[in-house]
Amino acid sequence: MEAYLDNSATTKVLPQVTEIMAKVHIEDYGNPSALHQKGIEAEKYLNYTRETIAAFLGVKEKEIIFTSGGTEANNLAVKGAAKRNRRRGTHLLTTKIEHPSVLNCFQKLAAEGFEVTYLTVNREGIIDLEELKHSLRPETLLVSIIHVNNEVGSIEPVKEAAAIIKEYNEKIIFHVDAIQSVGRLTIKPAEWGIDLLSMSAHKLHGPKGAGALYVRSGVLLEPLLDGGGQERDLRPGTENVAAIAGFGKAVELAAPNIDRQRETLYSLKKNFYAAVKEKIKEVKINGPEDEKGAPHIINLSFPGVKGEVLLHALEGKGVYVSTGSACHSRQSTPSHVLQALGLKKQEIDSALRFSFSILNDGQQIDYAVKILAEAVNELSRFGH
Ligand SMILES: Cc1ncc(COP(=O)(O)O)c(C=O)c1O
Repeated sequence: MEAYLDNSATTKVLPQVTEIMAKVHIEDYGNPSALHQKGIEAEKYLNYTRETIAAFLGVKEKEIIFTSGGTEANNLAVKGAAKRNRRRGTHLLTTKIEHPSVLNCFQKLAAEGFEVTYLTVNREGIIDLEELKHSLRPETLLVSIIHVNNEVGSIEPVKEAAAIIKEYNEKIIFHVDAIQSVGRLTIKPAEWGIDLLSMSAHKLHGPKGAGALYVRSGVLLEPLLDGGGQERDLRPGTENVAAIAGFGKAVELAAPNIDRQRETLYSLKKNFYAAVKEKIKEVKINGPEDEKGAPHIINLSFPGVKGEVLLHALEGKGVYVSTGSACHSRQSTPSHVLQALGLKKQEIDSALRFSFSILNDGQQIDYAVKILAEAVNELSRFGH
């Protein structure tokens, strides 16, 4: 038996997605910029995905820019907005619990002379809207807030944040990293006042290496690359047509079922946590409980047990989880997210993230909990 519970790191690609990708590679392999029929056939896939994503988000097709994934979408949004609009102000605002693909952009910009304010979060990983309000200044140029945190599943009040930011100064550019929320939670960037929104295909059963940035009409960005003018000059380079087609299919499959799937994920998470609490005496949740958190993520600490040792014990029995985010779990620095939540070193060292998808079922949950309980009991006896 296998239980893949690392769906925040990446999800399994759905068969309908691989099917459309294979068709692109085998039959419709033209360059979408080419003038002949093969090019036109390839371009249709880009149009299809652009239309699908735009309809899903309630935005215009021309506002969707394809990128090589979430990291690039975040880089284009943060660096692109700051650099292109620098003369409007040099103060930037973000949170302490962003993904490294956002956080590291801000660190680079700080080294280039921008001033960055990092909003704190409470024990549940949620920002304080009052702190946001008081941190805005006349020279604030850009605010970037993650929608769903990838390590603990906290849901940030981005709709309310947008209202505060725009009321203060509607020219401030508001970016949201929605990479963990697209396909799982409702998000309406145009309606809510979000200017830039990052997405990534592989978090919703699409392929790796495809992402998109929603760029509200009128928002100007400096491209990261120079090249042939694709994607309205914002992201030159021949588009990854097969992956983009797969992205469109993944969104098409998720869109009509989002409410039902959200309920399924919440019930997997609820059942998992209830069973864990029943079988394991010492367990502590990091981040929000139940429906206050994202439907697919739960982060737990098992006092006295090293998260990494536990991860490998579980792996030996076909249960796949993560110690923090996949992006930096190979580094030995303690998670900046768990630190921002105020966790002690021992709590951070014993933390594991479990993340679910619609491809998980009750049997896998039961199996994972059984293996987890055995491993925690075994390892805590040896003081690992
Ligand atoms: C919140 C968040 N932002 C950004 C990324 C980076 O996305 P990608 O893997 O597509 O580069 C991830 C992926 O782990 C993420 O969870």
